[in-house]
Amino acid sequence: MLERTLARYLTEEQRDKGVITADLKFLIEVVSRACHAISIAIGKGGLGGVLGEAGSDNVQGEAQKKLDVLSNEILLEANEWGGHLAAMASEEMDLPHLVPHRYPQGEYLLLFDPLDGSSNIDVNVSIGTIFSVLRCPEGADLSSPEASENAFLQPGTAQVAAGYAVYGPTTLLVLTVGDGVVAFTLDREQGHFVLTQENVRIPADTKEFAINMANQRFWEAPVRRYVGEMQAGREGPLAKDYNMRWVASMVADVHRIMTRGGIFMYPMDDKVRDKGGKLRLMYEANPMAFLVEQAGGAATDGRRRILDIIPDRLHQRVPVILGSRNEVDRVTRYHAA
Ligand code: AHG
Ligand code: MN
Ligand code: MN
Repeated sequence: MLERTLARYLTEEQRDKGVITADLKFLIEVVSRACHAISIAIGKGGLGGVLGEAGSDNVQGEAQKKLDVLSNEILLEANEWGGHLAAMASEEMDLPHLVPHRYPQGEYLLLFDPLDGSSNIDVNVSIGTIFSVLRCPEGADLSSPEASENAFLQPGTAQVAAGYAVYGPTTLLVLTVGDGVVAFTLDREQGHFVLTQENVRIPADTKEFAINMANQRFWEAPVRRYVGEMQAGREGPLAKDYNMRWVASMVADVHRIMTRGGIFMYPMDDKVRDKGGKLRLMYEANPMAFLVEQAGGAATDGRRRILDIIPDRLHQRVPVILGSRNEVDRVTRYHAA
């Protein structure tokens, strides 16, 4: 049987369905090649000298790992020459990266978390890459990296594509162009991504939750109530036993939810309150919220739909509650009570 590759899927979305432009098709193919390159670097591990600290901090004040820096460079280099982008922004860069003048400018903006789950790199646990694509507004000021930041400050509803790669036992690329969610598996011998799951759907109900329980004493009342009710199990108000999973790579936790349902929470807590939350809106929460909604799930910050938030800063943080719709609705209701 003829394999349905990522290239073929994108060609059909462009040529047959008219859902994406030729430039967006090219952009996603370039991002997939960068993810393939990151996957190869990760796969070398200690043999490739890619493990350990980079010895620098990013704009969020977090210590960068070598793979954070390397993945960021791979994505920048892969994407700057093609003529499909106006600028890129990343967790690992204070300011946006403008496409150098020697290359043509395109109509899209690309945002990414080049390496998600940094604390899991050195312990050989699944990590990933998250990306989000926006249109560059007409007449946007791209005269300097500082000025270009404004062009990125669009709500998640404006995304034209989003996806993640998860580097686990297999490397997967999970993608939405606003036409449902599809998953591709990297064929390492052939060197390309092959469609392995069409129409990914998140079940509306679940018995599995993901939250960092070590932060329990810092949570707000609605999350304490909800997690308490889940822990009470069959004898409690939710009348069923729950199980807990926390990989601590958002990509891996979200991928599990894409596969069999669940609820993921990095809620507001007293430890992260002054920063606005733990996870970043533009390149973690928004792309994941777009994917989750496209798969039939829901994503809120406890009070608002994530995709409706109008950002005021590139590196803005936000509380995140996402996954199986009925569970997300419940904990969001508890915040309103
Ligand atoms: P990153 O590695 O890109 O900084 O993101 C890490 C994030 C996310 O992947 C994960 O869900 C969360 O941080 C883990 O937080 P804890 O360390 O509190 O478990
Ligand atoms: Mn991350
Ligand atoms: Mn990261």
